[in-house]
Amino acid sequence: MSKISITKKIAWSLILKINAENINKNNLVRINETICENEINISYDRKHNHIEESNLILNEEISDLFNIFLPIVCSNKKTQFIAHIAQSLDGFIATDAGESKYISGKHNIEHIHRLRAISDVIIVGANTYIEDKPKLNTRLVEGNSPIIYIFDPKKVLKKMKVPSEINVINDMNLIKSELNRYKTIYVEGGGKTISQFMKKNILDRIHICLCPIILGGGRPSFIQDNYVSINDLKSHHAQYYKMGSDVLLDLKI
Ligand SMILES: NC(=O)c1ccc[n+]([C@@H]2O[C@H](COP(=O)([O-])OP(=O)(O)OC[C@H]3O[C@@H](n4cnc5c(N)ncnc54)[C@H](OP(=O)(O)O)[C@@H]3O)[C@@H](O)[C@H]2O)c1
Repeated sequence: MSKISITKKIAWSLILKINAENINKNNLVRINETICENEINISYDRKHNHIEESNLILNEEISDLFNIFLPIVCSNKKTQFIAHIAQSLDGFIATDAGESKYISGKHNIEHIHRLRAISDVIIVGANTYIEDKPKLNTRLVEGNSPIIYIFDPKKVLKKMKVPSEINVINDMNLIKSELNRYKTIYVEGGGKTISQFMKKNILDRIHICLCPIILGGGRPSFIQDNYVSINDLKSHHAQYYKMGSDVLLDLKI
């Protein structure tokens, strides 16, 4: 049978469709969908994260999209936590003054919107919410915008008027129980918030976008509270994807 070519838009619609469905728990996920009159068949090996068989022409763009998003939308975890951070080559996510727009390029910004679109909930830290005033929606891609939570352990938002559709959570110990009715929770930064999630071993996966700029100082991506010995640190297995002039590292934690 001859293979068919699909656009990135169709591949993305397929990913959204898989995300919305309750797929079986088997290791081999069989995807048979008709999208815009294209009959698409994929057998996806969940354990080894690879497409075993498909009737598609998988060029680099389509293949990367599937390789990045199928492990997330096909996850059989009841609730999964994913984080993304874009950092300079020297490990900073913003200047000291809090300027971060934009460290990464347009391909990565679109990727961030895709992460929002496959998530039920998005979490950002209080500094990010106050300094960036992010919209946290999916305006660049097809898909629904997630429910917004702000992580605010110092209760700085108490003195501010927060729109009623935005939820505020103060205690990291309550995050898992409060959000366990959702399938995918996406933590979009900043560094202090992601570091707290790392410390509590809550994250399942982290996307780190390495951007070819050097800030020479600023807000760090990750913060360790205590002294750590290099020998005690775990080396993560990473997949790499080119995103314009940036590189995305996909770490399964
Ligand atoms: N490049 C990217 O991908 C990206 C993504 C999102 C945001 N940003 C940038 O990141 C910056 C904000 O990040 P951020 O790391 O400063 O903050 P953040 O993660 O946005 O906010 C963290 C909040 O938690 C508090 N907090 C953190 N650790 C705490 C602890 N151990 N105990 C008690 N409270 C704690 C912080 O208070 P204190 O600050 O007072 O400690 C702050 O209120 C902004 O400039 C934003 O533009 C970049």
